[in-house]
Amino acid sequence: MTESDYAFFCGWLKDRTAIHLESGKQYLVETRLSPLVKQYQLGSVELLIAKLRTGGDSVLQTRVIEALVTNETSFFRDHNPFEALRKQAIPELMEARKTERRLSVWCAAASTGQEPYSLAILLRENFPQLMSWKVKILATDISREVLNKARSGVYSQLEINRGMPAVLMLKYFTQHGNQWHLNDDIRGMVDFSELNLAGSWPAMERFDLVMIRNVMIYFELETKKRILSRIGALLSPHGYLVLGGAETTYNIDDSYRRVEIHKTGFYQRR
Ligand SMILES: C[S@@+](CC[C@H](N)C(=O)[O-])C[C@H]1O[C@@H](n2cnc3c(N)ncnc32)[C@H](O)[C@@H]1O
Repeated sequence: MTESDYAFFCGWLKDRTAIHLESGKQYLVETRLSPLVKQYQLGSVELLIAKLRTGGDSVLQTRVIEALVTNETSFFRDHNPFEALRKQAIPELMEARKTERRLSVWCAAASTGQEPYSLAILLRENFPQLMSWKVKILATDISREVLNKARSGVYSQLEINRGMPAVLMLKYFTQHGNQWHLNDDIRGMVDFSELNLAGSWPAMERFDLVMIRNVMIYFELETKKRILSRIGALLSPHGYLVLGGAETTYNIDDSYRRVEIHKTGFYQRR
C-alpha cells in the first residue's frame, strides 16, 4: 500500500469512526481488508481504496469500517470490574435509586454482547430484588455486524470458555450442537442499538452506570475529551463511569474523580 493510500485511508477512517491509526499500520489495514478485496473481486487493496476515494457504495463503506474495528471482548472481561460492581457499585446505586426503583445502564462499544450480558447475568445472580425494578441496559456499538451477533445471544464453545463460569453457562445457556444459546430472560434485559460515539447521539435518559471499555484507546485526545464530557452530562449525580484497564479520565477530563473499588478504578463526577 502506498504512503498516499495509507494517509487517505487513515483520514477516511478517522472521519467516520474517530479511530486513529498510527503510522506504520499498513500491514494491519491490508490484512483486515484482504477478505473484502477477495469478496468484491477487486484484485488489490489499492483498488479497494480507489473505490473508497470515489465515495458511493455505502454498503462497501460499512463493510470496510466493520473490517477495521477491533471487536475483541469476552465474558466478565478483566474480572475485577465485575467484582467491583457486585460488591460495591451496584449496591450503592440501588440504595441511591431505592425510591424510584429504576436502574439505567449504558454499555457503549458493546461489541458482540459479552459485556452487557455479563452485567445482566451478574444482576440476575446477585440482586434478585431488581426483578421488581425497572432495569434498563442499553448496549450500543458502531458495527451493525457485531450488534446482530450480540442480539442473537449465540456463542461458540470458545467464546463461552473465555470468561463464562461453567455453573453460569449451565444455568443461563442451552447447548445446540457446538453453539450455546443465551436464554430469553437474560437476552430480554439488554436493548442493542447502533451508535457511533464520534457522531451525533440520540436523546438519551440519564444513566446510573456507563461502561465504555476498551474503545477510547483508539481515539485521539480531543475525541476522548468530547466523549467524556458528553457522558458526564448523561451521568446521574451518584452514577459511575467504568473504563477499560488501560484507560483513564486523568489529564483528559478532570471533572471526574477516580474511586478505587476492588482493585479497579471507577469514576464519578466531582
Ligand atoms: C475492543 S471492543 C471492546 C468491547 C467491550 N467494551 C470490551 O471491553 O470487551 C471495541 C468496540 O468498539 C467499537 N467501536 C469502535 N469505534 C467506535 C465508535 N466510533 N463508536 C462506537 N463504537 C465503536 C467496535 O466496533 C468494537 O466492537
